[in-house]
Amino acid sequence: MKFKTKLAAGLILAGVTLSAASAWAFVLDEMVIDYRQQIMKAKDAQATAIGHILTGTVPNDNIVLHFESLLLATRQTRKIFELEVQGGDSLPGIWENWDDFSAKLDTAESGINTAIETINQHGPGAAGDVALAALGCKSCHDTYRKK
Ligand code: HEC
Repeated sequence: MKFKTKLAAGLILAGVTLSAASAWAFVLDEMVIDYRQQIMKAKDAQATAIGHILTGTVPNDNIVLHFESLLLATRQTRKIFELEVQGGDSLPGIWENWDDFSAKLDTAESGINTAIETINQHGPGAAGDVALAALGCKSCHDTYRKK
């Protein structure tokens, strides 16, 4: 049973009226959508900071930390999409092709891990060799996010 359905059923059992329960489920959907958008914004902030470093406009000391933050945010992504809450800028294809969506998250994770390893081995200067495309943002957005 979907999270939302379970919750609505639980509220009805608890004596809450059907319309109040579905209003609650709607509010919860909005919170789930907001949550995943906040995580995406966190990724955006980290990717933007990495971009500043790569252009040489700010010192590169924090570069690994930015990639690590990106890694954590990427790991935080899957759980919230598992709830199957449609809406926001997410396309229904995410849940119709879950294995592919999930694989894109794996690819993003491994691209970020490779970046971290490369920089750890060769120093912050090697960050220039790490293509931002390896982060997998565009590849996923092109398929699963509304234009
Ligand atoms: C596996 C798929 C996937 C990957 C990888 C991914 N995103 Fe997203 N992103 C999405 C989806 C789906 C949405 C739409 C979320 C919604 O509104 O329901 C989104 C939305 C966003 C948004 C808009 C958030 C808002 O405020 O509405 C930003 C910014 C964003 N992503 C940045 C990034 C960045 C930067 C990366 C890479 C470092 C990234 N994303 C990687 C799937 C992905």
